[in-house]
Amino acid sequence: MTVYQATASAPVNIACIKYWGKRDTKLILPTNSSLSVTLDQDHLRSTTTSRADPSFQKDRLWLNGDEEEIKDGGRMATCIKEMKALRRQLEDKDPSLPKISGYPVHICSRNNFPTAAGLASSASGFAALVASLAALYQLPTDASRLSLIARQGSGSACRSLFGGFVAWQMGERPDGSDSYAVQVAPREHWPDIHALICVVSDDKKGTSSTSGMQRTVETSTLLQHRIKHVVPERMRAISEAILARDFDAFARITMQDSNQFHAVALDTDPPIFYMNDVSRAIIALIVEYNRVAIANGGKLRAAYTYDAGPNAVIYAPKENIKEIVELIVKYFPQADAFKDPFGVFDGKGVTGK
Ligand code: PMV
Repeated sequence: MTVYQATASAPVNIACIKYWGKRDTKLILPTNSSLSVTLDQDHLRSTTTSRADPSFQKDRLWLNGDEEEIKDGGRMATCIKEMKALRRQLEDKDPSLPKISGYPVHICSRNNFPTAAGLASSASGFAALVASLAALYQLPTDASRLSLIARQGSGSACRSLFGGFVAWQMGERPDGSDSYAVQVAPREHWPDIHALICVVSDDKKGTSSTSGMQRTVETSTLLQHRIKHVVPERMRAISEAILARDFDAFARITMQDSNQFHAVALDTDPPIFYMNDVSRAIIALIVEYNRVAIANGGKLRAAYTYDAGPNAVIYAPKENIKEIVELIVKYFPQADAFKDPFGVFDGKGVTGK
């Protein structure tokens, strides 16, 4: 008896140009393009196994060991449906292929880091789901094509299908067919950049990205300015900085964009606060670290960025990481404020088994 089963794993990504706002909530089409770095660390990944079997009664999902409902018409159901449709196309073209697209699937996924701790678990989760179904269905693994489907699970997930430096092009078409991820540069292009993750809190976040974004789109005038007049130029400039391996420009844009994302959250009615006092103290530390470097005739040495939560991600050239860790440990001696504190990324992207 043939067993139809496949496992794939996908890493977390952290945006330098933030996605915040949907122009289509069902298809998950963003109000602006975004760009991220895929963190490829063994302990920041989702690993997902999918199995198709005619004896299964229905599609089912287990997340970190607990069964989760697959809601009809929900994001999980959409991703599974789209992947089955791709398989069906293959089966229609090649009648010798086993007709597994009609079998129910059982999906089992694990994150090896705290879920919903502001560490983008939905990004790695949906990317691993789509990658595992692609392996199960033996689909051609064009990552941009798969990113169209991962996007409909969680917007930022589309970027986790690639390693290295990745852009999600917002696209223009109403059907979303041009809203997908592309690789700006592979990890090997700029191996010197590392990421340090400071887990300030692993509590579940207060306002989910879905409801936060919706409120921002409905109420923030600053968001309108950001999407029209700020992000397009930043996308161009940061891609150029990455291609030129210009850390100074990369860091400046990354920090500006994190600041503006949190300003847009504050401009939402009622306002949303994702950072806390420890997050702000880490910003002050990095600002001071950079100020001293510049005062001594140097350039920016580190960049902070924060997603929809209080945890800091610090990008820096490898040679500065040790010094930054020492600074953080010195100024935050309450070390248990940082759980599982530091990660170094060696972004290889999705791996399949
Ligand atoms: O894909 P979502 O719904 O988890 O939204 C992610 C939003 C941010 O992490 C704040 C920004 C980003 O581009 O990843």
